[in-house]
Parts: sequence; structure tokens; C-alpha cells
Amino acid sequence: MVLQKGILIVFEGIDGSGKSTQAKILLERLQEEDFDAVYFREPSKGKWGRKIKKKALHPDSLSPEEELDLFQKDRRENVEQNLKPALKKKKIVILDRYYYSNIAYQGAKGIDEKLIRRMNEEFAVEPDLVFIFDIDPKKGLERIENRKKKDKLFEREDYLVKVREIFRSFKGEKFVHIDALKSEEEISKEIQEIALPIFL
Ligand code: ADP
Ligand code: TYD
Repeated sequence: MVLQKGILIVFEGIDGSGKSTQAKILLERLQEEDFDAVYFREPSKGKWGRKIKKKALHPDSLSPEEELDLFQKDRRENVEQNLKPALKKKKIVILDRYYYSNIAYQGAKGIDEKLIRRMNEEFAVEPDLVFIFDIDPKKGLERIENRKKKDKLFEREDYLVKVREIFRSFKGEKFVHIDALKSEEEISKEIQEIALPIFL
């Protein structure tokens, strides 16, 4: 099915909140309905994204300003190489993390949230819909404690409490806050009820 324009749907939330699970469920549902839907994530698979992933294994290897800079470089590349071309082809783009993660994670390290937003909005494409998954960091961390590579830099509970608060503060028409403690089925139903009417 061909849409009149590309649509960008973003999934946000702290680590272990279940956003990747739901992003993939929505992607599959859209593909089943014969929509041209694609999935991207940040940090991306590009050179900056790979660099971030390596650094994340070493606690405090980066200053907040260096983090901000690396995530921005990765995002610029993702916007130009992945998001804009797909949206131009009128695809549905499902994006796992975007600049709201930048505001929440680097904001929680003391960088001015408005400044981070301004820097991103200079080049980033505005999304049509943003799902924000809300969960107690303790619960989120429990869900992912078996993941092989521990993201030491980002996944600390006291820090994630602050990150969560910033995510919870996002308000506006395009933001939908999801209670991430609900079951996978309940959440996917809720998401499809909100997202599918945009296309069907
Ligand atoms: P995130 O992308 O936010 O880090 P994931 O989607 O990778 O989170 O999910 C983290 C873990 O929690 C996975 O093992 C996943 O199977 C599980 N999970 C996802 N959604 C739920 C849910 N609603 N209830 C319980 N466990 C969940
Ligand atoms: P990711 O690999 O997506 O983690 P997860 O699979 O647990 O969701 O992202 C790695 C970390 O990068 C994650 O803890 C959040 C952090 N991050 C930022 O700090 N700033 C940003 O701008 C982005 C996109 C991610």
C-alpha cells in the first residue's frame, strides 16, 4: 500500500522498558498489512553508533559533552542516510530511540535540556508519533540483567531514575506515554489502536 507521505514513529524509554519488543511487533503488523515499513535504531549501525557501543562498556570513559557530541554525529548520519531517504519514498519508519533519548540521558547528566533539544531540532526530522515507555528502573534493569554485554555507562539505576523523570515530562499531541508494566499483548494492542488509524 502506498501512503501520501512518509510517517515517522519513534519508540522511547529507559533500558529494559520493552520498546524494541514493541517496535518490532508494530513493524511486523504493518508489513503483514502490506505497508512499506522499515526499522532503524539509535545508536545506529554506522561508524559513530559502533563507536558509542564500544565506549558504553567503559564507565565514565566519556564526559557528558563528549556523549552529546557522539550521539549527535550518529544521529546526523542516521537522519541523512536512513530516515530522509525512507520518508522520501513514503515509507513508514519505525525508529527505536531518537533525540528524546539525547534530552533524557544527557540531560540527566546535567546538560541543559532546552539546549539539547535546540541542537537536535536544527537537523532532525520531526516525528509524527512518539511512544514513551514508562517503567521503574529497577524493573527495567531486572528484565535485561541477562544481556551479555552490560552497558555500564548508561544502565545505572540512580541515573535511570533521573532519565525516567525527563521522559515523563514530555508533553504534547504526538507523545503517548505507555505503562510498560502491562503485558506485551496489552501494550501491542494499545499501540496498534493508536498507530493503525493513521494508515488504514
Ligand atoms: P528495551 O528495548 O526497552 O531495552 P526490550 O524490548 O529489549 O527493551 O525488552 C527487554 C526485556 O524485557 C526482553 O527480555 C523482553 O522479552 C522483555 N519484555 C518486553 N516487553 C515486556 C513486557 N511487557 N512484560 C514483560 N517483559 C517484557
Ligand atoms: P541501546 O543500545 O539502544 O540500548 P537498549 O538496547 O538498552 O535500549 O542504547 C545504548 C544506550 O545509549 C542506552 O542506554 C541509551 C543511550 N543513549 C543516550 O544516552 N543518548 C542518546 O541520544 C541515545 C540515542 C541513546
